[in-house]
Amino acid sequence: MQLGHLARRFFSFATALPLSIEESDDARSLLGDEELSDLFFAQPAADQRHGYDAGSWLAARDMPMWMVQAGMLHDIGKRHARMGRWGRATTTALGWVGVVPRGRMSIYTAHGPIGAKELGASGADARIVAYTAHHHDGRPPELTDAEWNQLDEADRRN
Ligand SMILES: [Fe+2]
Ligand SMILES: [Fe+2]
Repeated sequence: MQLGHLARRFFSFATALPLSIEESDDARSLLGDEELSDLFFAQPAADQRHGYDAGSWLAARDMPMWMVQAGMLHDIGKRHARMGRWGRATTTALGWVGVVPRGRMSIYTAHGPIGAKELGASGADARIVAYTAHHHDGRPPELTDAEWNQLDEADRRN
C-alpha cells in the first residue's frame, strides 16, 4: 500500500457515509446470498461503504458478478481487529518500517487471509476467496492480469 492510498483510506474512513436503504438493498441483491450479505453487513459502516463503492464501480463497468462481489467483500476480515482509522493507519505505517505486528495489529495486518477463510467457509467463489486472501500481496494464480488490475483499481479508488 502506498502513502497516497493510506492517506485516502484514512480520510475516507473518517468521512464515509453509511449506506442508504436503497444502497443496502442493492448490496444485498448484488451479493445474492444470505451468508455473504451477513458477512458484508457485519463490517463497520465505513468498510461497507468502501466495499459497496468498489463493487458498484465494477458493476457499472459490466464486470462479472464474482468480481463485483470480490470488490464488496475483500476487506471483511478487518472487522476482527476492531480498529478505527488511527489504529489502522498506525499499523500500516509500522509495517512499512518493519515493525512486527502483535495483538490486534496482527489481526489487521492479516485481514486478507482471515476474511478469505470466512468466505471459503461460506461457499464463496474460489476467485473471490483467492483475491481476498492476496489483495495486499499481488495477483494470485486464480486471477488473470486483467481481472487483478480491475479489482486493484476498484480497491484504490476510495
Ligand atoms: Fe484490504
Ligand atoms: Fe480495500
